[in-house]
Amino acid sequence: MSHSIKWLGHAACQITSEKGKVILIDPWITGNPSCPIKKEDITRADIILITHDHDDHLGSDVPDIVKATGATVLVQPELAGKLQEAGVSADNIIFGMGMNIGGQVEVSGIKVTMTQAFHSAGAGDPTGFIVILEDGKTVYHAGDTGIFSSMGILGELYDIDLALLPIGSVFVMDPVQAAYSLTLLKPQKVIPIHYGTFPILVQDAEEFTELAKQKTPGVTIEAIKPGEEISL
Ligand code: NI
Ligand code: MN
Repeated sequence: MSHSIKWLGHAACQITSEKGKVILIDPWITGNPSCPIKKEDITRADIILITHDHDDHLGSDVPDIVKATGATVLVQPELAGKLQEAGVSADNIIFGMGMNIGGQVEVSGIKVTMTQAFHSAGAGDPTGFIVILEDGKTVYHAGDTGIFSSMGILGELYDIDLALLPIGSVFVMDPVQAAYSLTLLKPQKVIPIHYGTFPILVQDAEEFTELAKQKTPGVTIEAIKPGEEISL
């Protein structure tokens, strides 16, 4: 047995822990051209993490997914308010009001820390997440961000087994920044995300893979396709 991490296209990712807990990150399902599943396919989720309120991350499915699964949503207070207006009960939002950058909470045996990200947002700020699974295996989802030097602090504080990093440029890190960020984060593995979804984004992971192999030959690059998963 092991944990599995599935890429649902763009920034949407699903972690299923060894003990069967399901964590959805940025579940933009309806309207996501790279997403291989439908909203109705999601029948189990314990935790939903949303990095920021842009449409390609928050999407429109969260209220229905919460109703179908009873999941707890971890977001900033400003986004919590927006979700409640969209029909998400405060009972399904962490502590009824949200959390913020630097804080760690534990839900269903999974520890989650909200991290900073350098980007923009409507309500609240852009964020990322460190997810520590039951056995200590650690996944970092950077959200939408450019590179920042304190990724080095995240790399020191957390023993990152897998990083989910945006590489698509225009709105987020380009392949050059994303490859360099591996020297700061020091993950065992990386899945490049947030590319190929739209014509204006970087269309494939080739340049990132090439640069990452040169800069950090010890990091395993898992350039999977939407719908594929890896185990951890
Ligand atoms: Ni964004
Ligand atoms: Mn985005």
